[in-house]
Amino acid sequence: MAVRKLAPEELQPKSFAFSPENEAFADQQIAKYPPGRQASAVIALLWRAQEQAGGWLPRKAIEAVAAKLDMAPIRVMEVATFYTMFNLEPVGKYFIQFCGTTPCALRGAGEIKKVLQARVGDSGHVSADGNFSWLEVECLGACCNAPMVQINDDYYEDLTPQNFEKLLNDLAAGRPVKTGSQIGRRTSEPYEAVNTLQDPSLYDGSVVGAWRKRFEETAQEGPTEAPGLEQRAAENPRAGKPDSGRAIGRVIETPANRVAEGKPPIDEKDRADAASKDRATAVEPRKDEADKPAPQSSKSYVAMPSKPEEGAPVAESPTTPIAGTPPSHAETRRDGSESKPDVVVDKDNKTS
Ligand code: FES
Repeated sequence: MAVRKLAPEELQPKSFAFSPENEAFADQQIAKYPPGRQASAVIALLWRAQEQAGGWLPRKAIEAVAAKLDMAPIRVMEVATFYTMFNLEPVGKYFIQFCGTTPCALRGAGEIKKVLQARVGDSGHVSADGNFSWLEVECLGACCNAPMVQINDDYYEDLTPQNFEKLLNDLAAGRPVKTGSQIGRRTSEPYEAVNTLQDPSLYDGSVVGAWRKRFEETAQEGPTEAPGLEQRAAENPRAGKPDSGRAIGRVIETPANRVAEGKPPIDEKDRADAASKDRATAVEPRKDEADKPAPQSSKSYVAMPSKPEEGAPVAESPTTPIAGTPPSHAETRRDGSESKPDVVVDKDNKTS
């Protein structure tokens, strides 16, 4: 990802103003949003400004958009510098966005890139004749016809070094070129041979007809013998919320229900059962291990009180540095290791 910054001052035009047509377009976009939300139109206006400026966004165009939308210029700058759809430096008459993402890379995008480097030069620079500049971008969504590039507003797909070089020559010479697949594929139909979805029944309606026939036959047979919902609920009652409409077969014993029946919320038998030691899950240590110390690392730890007045011993050298102590002056680190000693430089520039 290239660094995205504004073009050098010497390339920046002295002024920018929307054309009357684009001014009207801007008003139309702003009117789409509620009052006070005109900033939502920022991308549309930046895009128009870029078109008007010849395919890139000078600083003055960004400021004009900010003024139009009553936004701080830095806010518009943030948008313009974030999205790669906005060019911050001048571009060639034909601006080529080269897709270098995996599907295109697997289908030979590397060779296309070599053509660009040889024919146009480095990415981000306009060719000497002013015709071309290029930028590597992420997937442009035409992976089926990889490798591909976008030139200005059009896609050129199924590229090979040969047909791509010819395409560039034709564009430079002003000859008509073909957009889309360069090998005659229609849209993204299968490459070379059609090997899938060949069953004629997929297209003559017979598959849909078979389904419809089954539905019609089922409808003619009338209702099935299977028990309905109500019958099944009566046969197998399950508890449900009273307002769910489902039959309630038994009352669940909850504390609320017990209280409603005038009983204590917890059954005394259940309470005694829960308190019984027999039900406790605590495990007695094995006799042969009872006296062994708990396993721990070779480090020794001193229990530190949170407050000195609690009586526990207080370490002379606290493990936590006093707030504001520079790291180099802390006597110990949190992990107990010694901190780096101070380095003293004498007047002869010797260290000790
Ligand atoms: S990977 Fe190139 S268009 Fe998707």
